[in-house]
Amino acid sequence: MMIPGAPQELKKDEMVQLVSHELRAPLNATEGYIKFLMQCESGPLNPEQMDLLNTALNNINRLEHFVTDMLDLAKMEAGRLSYRFAQADLGTLIRGVLETFRFAAAEKGVRLACDVPAGLTQARMDEGRVRQVLENLVNNALKFTDEGGTVMVSVWEYCGWLKVSVADNGAGISPEFMPELFERFSQEGARRTWNERAKGSGLGLWIVKNVVHAHGGNVWVQSERGVGSIFNFTVPASQA
Ligand SMILES: Nc1ncnc2c1ncn2[C@@H]1O[C@H](COP(=O)(O)OP(=O)(O)OP(=O)(O)O)[C@@H](O)[C@H]1O
Ligand SMILES: [Mg+2]
Repeated sequence: MMIPGAPQELKKDEMVQLVSHELRAPLNATEGYIKFLMQCESGPLNPEQMDLLNTALNNINRLEHFVTDMLDLAKMEAGRLSYRFAQADLGTLIRGVLETFRFAAAEKGVRLACDVPAGLTQARMDEGRVRQVLENLVNNALKFTDEGGTVMVSVWEYCGWLKVSVADNGAGISPEFMPELFERFSQEGARRTWNERAKGSGLGLWIVKNVVHAHGGNVWVQSERGVGSIFNFTVPASQA
């Protein structure tokens, strides 16, 4: 019920924005305190304490990631996410993104490779958003690929479009799950509890689809259970 004189009811995206905003500050502060402790600034820590703090930090990072995704989701649903399209080099962007995953890949024993032709990769895109697309796809590929596997990012130019492929030889996706792959909160096996969802929230591919479509491009996948997956997307090329 509306109370006369009371502030107007909040729209869903405004509510998410408010909650996210309120969550951010304590999350950032907690992250800071944990890092401070881990640097042993307030005294030495034993390996078990370090381990516990590391788990706490991972949980905080997961929450931060979730808050960012929820915020994007609410803005995208409300059509309020604005894009800044400009000419930028897709090859440079890909190499930069792969660099940020080097450590995680090495730790997991997965080879990260890229096949990007020199030149010919000027795109018309919102660089920050396409970075998010690449991060989501590479992150997934690494997450679902076991030690000894390979994740490979390639680019082709054809008919005014740049096609990017992120290929892995990991778990693959079963045909039954394919139709809901790009839906919100969809995860194969429908894990439900917070602990079981430790590997993510199921928002990444929905965000990928929205960003690619906002560029006028397409996103599609080829996958086979036990063999691997190839996620492909297109963005418009730009004549330099
Ligand atoms: N490269 C891949 N190999 C195998 N399965 C995949 C791959 N990429 C995505 N999936 C399947 O699709 C689901 C949805 O992926 P999506 O990126 O949307 O969510 P998530 O990775 O689970 O969580 P989030 O990205 O929000 O942290 C995954 O949980 C997984 O079941
Ligand atoms: Mg993901």
